[in-house]
Amino acid sequence: MLNLKPYTSQEFKRLYHGRGEKTYPFLTIDSIEDSILIEFYEKKEETPFINYLKNYISKTHHKNIILKRRYKNETLAIVGKIPNKIFAIENKIKFKLNLFNQNIGYFGDIKPLRSYIEQISKNKTILNLFSYTCGFSMFSRRGGAKRIVNIDMNKSVLKTGLINHQINNLSTKNISFLQHNALKSNYKKLLYDIIIIDPPSFQKGGFDINKDYEKLIKKTTKHLKEGGILFATINSPKYDYEFLKNIVEKNSYLKMKKIIPPNKDYINSTLKIIEFGE
Ligand SMILES: C[S@@+](CC[C@H](N)C(=O)[O-])C[C@H]1O[C@@H](n2cnc3c(N)ncnc32)[C@H](O)[C@@H]1O
Repeated sequence: MLNLKPYTSQEFKRLYHGRGEKTYPFLTIDSIEDSILIEFYEKKEETPFINYLKNYISKTHHKNIILKRRYKNETLAIVGKIPNKIFAIENKIKFKLNLFNQNIGYFGDIKPLRSYIEQISKNKTILNLFSYTCGFSMFSRRGGAKRIVNIDMNKSVLKTGLINHQINNLSTKNISFLQHNALKSNYKKLLYDIIIIDPPSFQKGGFDINKDYEKLIKKTTKHLKEGGILFATINSPKYDYEFLKNIVEKNSYLKMKKIIPPNKDYINSTLKIIEFGE
């Protein structure tokens, strides 16, 4: 069975990342404020895991156990209830969640890059491509960024992004939330100090690593200021660091500077993050 350490903080934590742990590759478990979220990616016997978690929460602060059957997009409370409002809290910044959505509004594997960007964003102009719920925007604003452009083709995630700034009392002055195709946008015709490219591994009508990454690198690097920094990611077991390094170096003047390891709670994560500069 599982062997989870009691966790008593309100901050989001991935307690079990089955996809990398081999024993239960169909399972993930998160601590989100007062709730435990257990997600099954395949149809499996649920009872032993639920019983384990019922015992687990007798030693922690959690009030709710919420079950998500990803394979049929079903979300229900097993213990307690699904809170009306629930947030993933990361280094005190809140992300508004919707537990009924396939993707709930927060990706915890890329947490180290958000902290890193917060540290380097003072007075910087930032382009956040594939922004989703605008996590990089919030952390760079807290770090003192002066201008931020968020781009995503999905209007509803941008709306959540705007709400996220508001609930964290982060000013949205000089922050844009643009519903654009990242492959076609003119990026407000600006030049940027920092560009973040964090695309899906594959999305029909959205992004295809094989077809689009090269194009995107050629296009975005024209919008980078002299001495600017580009962060590029890939999250797929099919592509390694070498692939990502080559795709940027062969299609621009940039060179790989460093690898930023993903959140270590996501054991054997397939997420690769590389910083590029001149
Ligand atoms: C993996 S999420 C990005 C995660 C995000 N960077 C974060 O920090 O949480 C992928 C996002 O890319 C968006 N997307 C996919 N294809 C796109 C395109 N061609 N242009 C703009 N957004 C796109 C999706 O709507 C989705 O919100």
